[in-house]
Amino acid sequence: MPKDTVTLTDNSTGKSVELPIRRGTHGPAVVDIGNLYKDLGMFTYDPGFVATASCRSTITYIDGEKGVLLYRGYPIEQLAEGSNHLEVCYLLWYGRLPSKAEYDSFVDTITHHTMIHEGLKDFYSGFHRGAHPMAVMVGVVGALSAFYHDFLDINDPMHREVSAQRLIAKMPTIAAWAHRYSRGQPFIYPQNHLGYAENFLNMMFSFPSEPYTVNPVAARALDLILLLHADHEQNASTSTVRLAGSSDANPFAAVSAGVGALWGPLHGGASESVVNMLKTIGSVANIPKFIERAHDPKDTFRLMGFGHRVYKHYDPRAAIMRRTCYDVLKALNVSDPLFEIALKLEEIALKDDYFVQRKLYPNVDFYSGIILRALGIPTSMFTVIFTIGRTVGWVSQWNEMLTSDERKIGRPRQLYVGAPQRDYVPLEKR
Ligand code: ACO
Repeated sequence: MPKDTVTLTDNSTGKSVELPIRRGTHGPAVVDIGNLYKDLGMFTYDPGFVATASCRSTITYIDGEKGVLLYRGYPIEQLAEGSNHLEVCYLLWYGRLPSKAEYDSFVDTITHHTMIHEGLKDFYSGFHRGAHPMAVMVGVVGALSAFYHDFLDINDPMHREVSAQRLIAKMPTIAAWAHRYSRGQPFIYPQNHLGYAENFLNMMFSFPSEPYTVNPVAARALDLILLLHADHEQNASTSTVRLAGSSDANPFAAVSAGVGALWGPLHGGASESVVNMLKTIGSVANIPKFIERAHDPKDTFRLMGFGHRVYKHYDPRAAIMRRTCYDVLKALNVSDPLFEIALKLEEIALKDDYFVQRKLYPNVDFYSGIILRALGIPTSMFTVIFTIGRTVGWVSQWNEMLTSDERKIGRPRQLYVGAPQRDYVPLEKR
């Protein structure tokens, strides 16, 4: 039997080290380099973690070559078809689908945690009215640790569970209030008779002065968007939450770090950038000009909503989003010229040599903005909605990290290429 190891030889010294291979359920095996520094005195070098597995995980699996996404083993297409966001939250956190009684009890718990401390309301008035709602999210989510310190023992499973439930439950309220504050509109409290997505839409759009009914098509579409964003293994924001949480920081602090990482246009901020890009393109006739710009390495323009570190195939979430665009626009009787531009842009890009060679396909953010626009959600709130959906992924990955038998503070090494050691020269002698 050949040994399940990789041998690495330093040709300059002839010293060798045998490194164990670890195999998972699906996907590429990994080489365990834990002893590399001890045995060979070297680190590995992998900027951007292109070939580095940072942890073992049982939560989400992606096959980027085939366009497969599984939450706890269940294909995203089946969950999108038959499940809903709160059931997926249960699945991601507890690792299995709930019974009817467990589901009802979970929904009840989340529903009864949706209110936020009245003191937190005062935080909003400290922000500039023109602040981006993601700026408000980073601040208010971090501030939760100042209000909910009764269950912050990260080594107590019950405390972790309550904090996770609070984050999942309160995120839509915090998010909707960020929007209301920016408009100078009254904050709307959560309503316990409404579902998760319905409640968010009600807090976004209703007024105390008149009755408001949430359109069920809009609620179902939003719920689907949340479900599709619920987790995506070790992406930038999730890795940020794990890294921040690995210092034993409290979950609200760790998740607010994740909100910050998500905000960037190369990650969750892409949904907002896609719509801005489609508006700039303006018409189908202008597409070739922008495709040319995307080819030019000297031009910083990129086709937003295209490309992915892991998917070298159509992102399965984008395929669901694309289909949903047709359904939602039709059901809500909305005609959006940006959808026409997006469809044509995709068609041209998928036949274009530059995109074909680099295996660049639409990602989840390419079509999500079209749906959100149809629901009347302002562009600045797109990444905020991603934040609501991804919260369960962040807390589930944080919990997994804290309960791992390999739990360690995250602390990457580096290749130092700065000045060699030198002596300080006093100011008067320089
Ligand atoms: N438009 C034009 N060219 C692109 C694009 C794009 N959207 N994406 C990648 N490329 C090119 C790069 O210029 C590079 O070309 P080169 O080999 O000639 O230098 C090649 O494709 C590989 O790209 P990298 O940036 O090295 O790939 P990486 O895996 O590091 O980046 C990323 C992935 C950040 C998602 C990238 O594809 C991108 O910037 N896309 C646009 C932003 C976006 O949509 N982000 C959302 C991602 S999904 C999510 O986070 C929810």
